[in-house]
Amino acid sequence: MRIFCILLALPLVCGVALSVFAADRVFTPYASVKPVLDQPSDLLPAELGNPNEAKWSAWSQRHDKAIRARLQEGDLDSMVNLLLYGTSFTKQPRIKLEALTEASKAGILRARVDDLVAGLRSPGDNERLIFLNGLLRSQGIDPSSPGETGVFIYNNLGRVIQEIGTLAKRAEEAKRLTQPAQPDAAVDPSAIFNWRPGLFRDRGVSLDTGIFPNFSIEQALRDLKNRGVLREGQVARVAVIGPGLDFIDKNEDASYDYYPQQTLQPFALYDSLVRLGLAKANAVSMSIFDISSRVIDHIQRARERARMNVPNTGYVIQLPRQVAPAWPPDLIAYWSSLGDRVGTEVTPIPPPTAFQGLETRALRIRPDVVLSLHPVDLNIVLERMNLAESDRFDLIVATNIFIYYDAFERSLALENAGAMLKRGGLLLTNDRLPEVPGGSMRLDGVTDVQYNHDSIGWYRKR
Ligand SMILES: C[S@@+](CC[C@H](N)C(=O)[O-])C[C@H]1O[C@@H](n2cnc3c(N)ncnc32)[C@H](O)[C@@H]1O
Repeated sequence: MRIFCILLALPLVCGVALSVFAADRVFTPYASVKPVLDQPSDLLPAELGNPNEAKWSAWSQRHDKAIRARLQEGDLDSMVNLLLYGTSFTKQPRIKLEALTEASKAGILRARVDDLVAGLRSPGDNERLIFLNGLLRSQGIDPSSPGETGVFIYNNLGRVIQEIGTLAKRAEEAKRLTQPAQPDAAVDPSAIFNWRPGLFRDRGVSLDTGIFPNFSIEQALRDLKNRGVLREGQVARVAVIGPGLDFIDKNEDASYDYYPQQTLQPFALYDSLVRLGLAKANAVSMSIFDISSRVIDHIQRARERARMNVPNTGYVIQLPRQVAPAWPPDLIAYWSSLGDRVGTEVTPIPPPTAFQGLETRALRIRPDVVLSLHPVDLNIVLERMNLAESDRFDLIVATNIFIYYDAFERSLALENAGAMLKRGGLLLTNDRLPEVPGGSMRLDGVTDVQYNHDSIGWYRKR
């Protein structure tokens, strides 16, 4: 291994990789979960009443399978997003959700369904359609049968629309409960941090990702630096939980399928850490934790290509920017420099004509940055890595993931993240996680991000 590290000329990163690989991934031990189980909570699953080690062990293994099973429904949600917003399989106009009835009357919806059915039958080299073709088969649907596939697509569209209605009502109710009673009271910018968590607790888990959460994280890191919470060069060991894969976003203003699937958060985070001087270039090791084999395999393949280091074949990220509605100046400034500390500018893939006025950038990420990522299959609700104190993380980032979990699951996740942080280390997330009395993690503060009313909370390991 040592020779391998010297050959790569990356001794520091390699040394860290070794210790993370050598570490054990374990289900949360009963002794650590006891303070969470002992809390009075209506949300404790009935099977965990009067808990003991055997009950915990059986439940956590069953629940791990249940959580992972939610990925399939998330993939079917992505199929619906592709149906409405995709441009890689059809020339029909994209359909905004609020214009669905009109699009249906005008025959546009039907035409898009027909084009998707045809694409699923013969996906060619369209990687999204190839994936969905396999997904349909795994659901017992034959993609070569247009009738069966069409009904399946319409059924999923109906399900997603119904869910969106339920979610909108749930969000209104959650806002009402957490926001000031008087209509004229000042709106607390951090309120979203309080009402959003758990909103998708019974929804499929999807892989959606894009630029916006990374902007929020850079804002939070800058805030932490300005306040003296994080110091220059302090961050070397980092983890991203749930980086996602940009298949096509559920947010119609940022849904694209004209470029290969990509992950963004690990590179954006590395870039921000170096830009802000919080980490030294070439001295970051980043563990990537995810339950999705698609995410893990995607990063693994990127690493294999980076290791071969064939010129002009490295990992390329595409960065489209919608011009209208206009982004605020600080978001445009972020977009303009994103990636310049981790890669070099290359010619972007030209967007299809459906995206009039889209500005684009693209970057080829340096191989040493790709090789600093260490993907590990891990369910943060129920699992952790057993790490020696010296191998633990300075910083963990997890955005748009805890929205999928109820309060009990979020408490478990918070303690699992805490077990992998150094003393004083930080978890940054945009969903409030219930702190456990006697637990290891405390909310130290929140950074409000004006764009999208996002808020990033900083939890500190005590
Ligand atoms: C909606 S994406 C968010 C992607 C990215 N963090 C962002 O904000 O754009 C959710 C990601 O979290 C992962 N994920 C969901 N539940 C998880 C869990 N319990 N443990 C680890 N990863 C999880 C999903 O597989 C996916 O990659």
